[in-house]
Amino acid sequence: MEYQAALPSADSIWMSASKSGIFQKIKYCTHNKISKLARGRSMAYMEWTRDLESGIPVIDTQHKRIIEFINELHEACQTRSADETNHVMEGLLNYTVTHFEFEEALQEKAGYPFLKAHRRIHEVFMKKVAEIRARSTKGEDVAPELLNLLKGWLASHIKGEDRDYVESVKKITDSDDQEVSGWLDTLLTRFST
Ligand SMILES: [Fe+2]
Ligand SMILES: [Fe+2]
Repeated sequence: MEYQAALPSADSIWMSASKSGIFQKIKYCTHNKISKLARGRSMAYMEWTRDLESGIPVIDTQHKRIIEFINELHEACQTRSADETNHVMEGLLNYTVTHFEFEEALQEKAGYPFLKAHRRIHEVFMKKVAEIRARSTKGEDVAPELLNLLKGWLASHIKGEDRDYVESVKKITDSDDQEVSGWLDTLLTRFST
């Protein structure tokens, strides 16, 4: 048949595609796509789970942000330079301190009876963090140890001591009183990061 003779054979199509490197490109793209999908689907270092929810939106938002920071630090440890990792670590620790101060201010306003004990727990934890962090000035890679500590401590603190103040603090965060909501707005402005 004439038209068949005019068409290139399957072999010649295969040969020219091979020469053009198209198969290599497809293989490379597919590999990249699969890697990206695998990364997207893989579990984060620390996941936000429902049992971490307090029911106070502003507190949950801050806890979620700390978890995001933890995941960012975990990624930085594996892919970025020591300077960049330290930068993320500083951001995480500063944000954590800010969150602690925010919580304590809310507890104080609410007249939460265990504020002193809660503040002490925050202080003891930050002291431990500071000790570990101090070793990084001597060139030690402390990020993995910090990550491990933060991940374990944070989950247990959120589910434990933080949950204990929810009922008390909700009276402030859910209040319709103008003085209280004005005070809360000022606090949020002070601590907005
Ligand atoms: Fe907290
Ligand atoms: Fe706390």
